[in-house]
Amino acid sequence: MAEPLLSVRDAEQAAAQILPADIMDFIAGGSEAEITLAANRAALDAVFLTPRMLTGITACDAGTTLAGSRSALPVAIAPMSYHRLVSPDGELGMAQAAKEAGIPLILSMMSSCPLEEVAAVGATLWQQLYLLRDRSQVTGMVRRAEEAGCAALVLTVDVPRLGRRLRDMRNGFVLPPEITAANLSGPDTALLHRPAAGSSVVAAHTHQAFESSLSWADVTWLREMTALPLVLKGILDPSDARRAVEHGVSAIVVSNHGGRQLDGAIPSAAALPGVCEVVRGRCQVFLDSGIRGGTDVLRALALGASGALLGRPALWGLASGGAPGAARVLSLLAEELTDAMHLAGCADVKAARSLRAGGLRHDTGVTGR
Ligand code: FNR
Repeated sequence: MAEPLLSVRDAEQAAAQILPADIMDFIAGGSEAEITLAANRAALDAVFLTPRMLTGITACDAGTTLAGSRSALPVAIAPMSYHRLVSPDGELGMAQAAKEAGIPLILSMMSSCPLEEVAAVGATLWQQLYLLRDRSQVTGMVRRAEEAGCAALVLTVDVPRLGRRLRDMRNGFVLPPEITAANLSGPDTALLHRPAAGSSVVAAHTHQAFESSLSWADVTWLREMTALPLVLKGILDPSDARRAVEHGVSAIVVSNHGGRQLDGAIPSAAALPGVCEVVRGRCQVFLDSGIRGGTDVLRALALGASGALLGRPALWGLASGGAPGAARVLSLLAEELTDAMHLAGCADVKAARSLRAGGLRHDTGVTGR
């Protein structure tokens, strides 16, 4: 590691000094004009908390249960593809960091390390799924996840096709030969290594392999296939959240995929209160997209979420120092969160979820549940 990281936010700078420009772009980039990417941050920055004083607390416990898994923090690591692009430690290193931090790792279906090897590290593992046209590969992943001891499945629902990621198109983004979608088989994966000027191999592969007509019937199909808790990732509309509850999900992730799918989509922090209002505690709600530190996690809780997903900063940590770099980012996140909880007068996650949160001009008086 070049310089010791002092905040979760520092990790991006550290990664930028190490990673090749096209890989940095692949991770940092959003779709089209990157309006939603920027808005995710702006929306979180616009959430102000009303701290409570004279609470007499001496220590804060950030432990909680997420989709049935005990976690040391109200945080799981978001599913992100191809970790070996940033470090030879890959997903094995991320799992090591998650294990040390005591939080779940959501393993991307597009992992560059095999699921069974990642599971052997011993972290709490949730398996993320995309619905592929070849259903047998999805069924195969579900069975492998069950056998490997995964504690939940996460179906990502916001990728019927890939958002137009202009940085990757300009770079003609392509995976190096040694980095593969280690859990997938079949002829489509060859596309990941076939460069074309003005286009990204990730877009070409998604176009070929992903089901473009994803529907609620597919959620039922998956729900009936397994007894594992099911999490839907990529919900923004409260009426979709209601349907998710009706479909028996354990949790919803309010997410716009980190601004990588529909540009102009509502920032997830802005969508969160409406979703929580409709869900009314019938399943858990997690916030993802834009989380860059402990205070953001506290903001998510105060807006009514049960937890948050940490995306890019975890990858920046892995890039800057392999497994120890990722572990450093997660321990900083824990420190930042417990510091913020103490400053806000919250002894635990339950107290944090009843903090007052609102904007500067319009204090909506939203309090968590
Ligand atoms: C992602 N994301 C993602 N989501 C998913 O469900 N499956 C995946 O394979 C991936 N892959 C992926 C790769 C990279 C490089 C990034 C940056 C993101 C989206 C991810 O889970 C999460 O929604 C966003 O990263 C959240 O935004 P922030 O917090 O990173 O800004």
